Amino acid sequence: MAKSRILSGIQPTNILHIGNYVGALQQWVTLQQTHDAFFCIVDLHAITVKQDPKQLHDNIRQLAAMYIAAGIDPKQSTIFVQSRVSAHAELGWVLNTLAKVSDLERMTQFKDKSAQHHENINVGLFDYPVLMAADILLYQPEIVPVGDDQSQHVELTRTLAQRFNKQFGDVFHVPKLQLRKEGARIMALDDPTKKMSKSAGSNANYIALTDSADVIRKKIRRAVTDSGSQVVFDPKRAGLYNLLTLYRIFSGMTEAAIEKKFAGAKYGDFKADLAEVIITALSPLQERYAALIKDEKHIEAILDDGAKRAQAVAEVTLKKVYDAVGLG
Ligand code: AMP
Ligand code: TRP
Repeated sequence: MAKSRILSGIQPTNILHIGNYVGALQQWVTLQQTHDAFFCIVDLHAITVKQDPKQLHDNIRQLAAMYIAAGIDPKQSTIFVQSRVSAHAELGWVLNTLAKVSDLERMTQFKDKSAQHHENINVGLFDYPVLMAADILLYQPEIVPVGDDQSQHVELTRTLAQRFNKQFGDVFHVPKLQLRKEGARIMALDDPTKKMSKSAGSNANYIALTDSADVIRKKIRRAVTDSGSQVVFDPKRAGLYNLLTLYRIFSGMTEAAIEKKFAGAKYGDFKADLAEVIITALSPLQERYAALIKDEKHIEAILDDGAKRAQAVAEVTLKKVYDAVGLG
C-alpha cells in the first residue's frame, strides 16, 4: 500500500529557533519514517515582508542545510524550494477566486504581522494563507505537521478544499492538522505570554539552533520565570512551565522523573542543567550543519532533485484543477 503523504514548510527568513525545531522539524523527522514526506522552503511567503535579496538567496540554502542537519533524509523525503515549482503560484491564483476577503481578515497571523510591519501591509501579506493552502493542496497530503500558530491557516486550507470540491467536483483531499501533544507552542524566553518567534525584537526571546553553548547558557539563565521556588510542572507558572517543557522534550524524561530530579533544587540549578541538556541535544545537529553549509553543490543537487520530484506531483493536481474549472 502506498504510504500516506505529509507536507509542511518553513520560511527562509532569519535563523531557526528551538520553537521551530520542536514544533515542526522534530515531528517531521519522526513522520518521514512512516509517510511519503514533502518539505518545502517557502520563499514566496518570505517576500511578503521586506527581504534583502542576497540574504534571502543565502537563507534558502541555509534552511535546506538545516532541514538535513535536523534529520530530514533527502533520499527518503522530498526537500524543495517553493518558487521553483510554478504550480504553487498558479494554484494560489485559482484559490484566490474562492477565498473571501472576510476569511483572510480573520487570520491572526495577518493581524500580528500588519501590526509589526505597519509600513508595508502589502496584498501578499494578506493573501499569504491562500498561497499556503496551494502549497498543501497540490500534494494531496493526509496530514500537515506544524506548530500551533499555523492551526488557523490549516483550517482555512480545509475550508478552501471543501469549497472547491463542492463547486467543481472532488479534486482535493481535505488534509488534517497535526500538532505535537507537547511543544506545539514554545513560548518566548523573555516573555512567556508570547510565542517564541524569530522575528521578535530581541534575541533574548529565542534560542537559535546555531547558538553557541555559552549563548545558550546565558539565554537560559536570563529566561523569565517567577518568584516561586519549587521546580514543578504548573501551567499557571508560564515561564517555568515552558522551560520544563523544553527539558522534557530535549531530555526525553517524564514529568515525574524531572520533578523528582529537581525536588528541593533552586530555579538556578534547574536552569543550569536545562542549558546543558539543550546544548547536548543540539550539538550533533550543529556539527552536521557546519559541514553541510560548506558544500553548496551538494545542497543545490538535493534541491534540484527535490524540485523535479515535487513538480511531478504538483502538475498532476494543477491539471485536475484547471480541467475542473474549465481552464484545461
Ligand atoms: P515560521 O518560523 O513561521 O516559518 O514557522 C515554521 C514552523 O515552526 C511552523 O510549523 C510553525 O508553526 C512552527 N513554529 C514557529 N514558532 C513556533 C513556536 N514558538 N513553537 C512551536 N512551533 C513553532
Ligand atoms: N505559514 C507557515 C509559517 O509561517 C509556513 C508555510 C507556508 C507552511 N506554506 C506551508 C507550513 C505549507 C505548512 C504547509 O510557518
